[in-house]
Amino acid sequence: MVEFIDQIIHGDCLEVMGRLPNECIDMIFTDPPYGHGNHNGDWNARLNAHRGIENKPIANDDQESMRRVVSGMLERAARLLKHDCCCCCCCCCCGGGGPRPTFAWLAQRMDENGLQFFHSVIWDKGNPGLGWRYRRQHEMIMVAHRTGGRLRWADDNVTQRNVICAAAPRERVHPNEKPLELVQRFIALHTLPGDTVLDPFAGSSTTAIACAKLGRRFICIEKDAQYVAVGKRRLEEFAAQGNLFKPGAQNTMEAGETAYNSASTQPEQLSLDGVL
Ligand SMILES: C[S@@+](CC[C@H](N)C(=O)[O-])C[C@H]1O[C@@H](n2cnc3c(N)ncnc32)[C@H](O)[C@@H]1O
Repeated sequence: MVEFIDQIIHGDCLEVMGRLPNECIDMIFTDPPYGHGNHNGDWNARLNAHRGIENKPIANDDQESMRRVVSGMLERAARLLKHDCCCCCCCCCCGGGGPRPTFAWLAQRMDENGLQFFHSVIWDKGNPGLGWRYRRQHEMIMVAHRTGGRLRWADDNVTQRNVICAAAPRERVHPNEKPLELVQRFIALHTLPGDTVLDPFAGSSTTAIACAKLGRRFICIEKDAQYVAVGKRRLEEFAAQGNLFKPGAQNTMEAGETAYNSASTQPEQLSLDGVL
């Protein structure tokens, strides 16, 4: 287990999660492929092609593959999460002539195989996307805990509206990059300093940065080597800004490697007040 801590692992999450021990994770925050075939012939792909920008499809982003990997991730999540710990999973909200919505399927799927769906939270991006009729301004984060468990809440004196407003990042290093502020908020609500957060679909590893900022440990898994490198660079930039997190020589690993960088994280003690 220790070899996975504070690492961005290059590999398939279903395989890597299968190698983690039971009940070793304090929270899962993740943002799986949306099942839209993003950047693979969609509107963005056509716009990029028009601008002469290369398109790079997101791995497992067709409907069938998305459901397979998300389902496999949730099955493993129930085994890995500690008893009262939760899984927060971003998903698409829409429909109506656009891509098929995922939230209804996800809520139902979260209610099986050892997990229990608890609540859906709206991420309000502040601006509507391009489109017609109902233009999309929000995405959803679905929250589940283990069957028979409770939703772990870091501070009972804190309440949280179930609509969270946060602008999408302007300069993106990943086409689906989430606002750091949004990810930090969920992590602060459900974990304490020193806890371990798993992100099986890490993309540019926004979750790792959020954990480093809040003094949590992380395990990020990403299938695409290009995004693993992006995540590593973000961590290095974060450390270069004088933050306590010190990425050592190795903060990424290939699935199957067992290197551990013992000099990695010095948990930063931040109070919830700084985030909420
Ligand atoms: C929606 S993006 C995550 C973006 C991320 N939240 C961020 O802020 O950058 C989903 C990511 O999951 C990755 N992915 C897809 N299938 C995977 C798998 N089986 N194992 C690990 N990563 C996978 C994709 O390569 C993609 O980068």
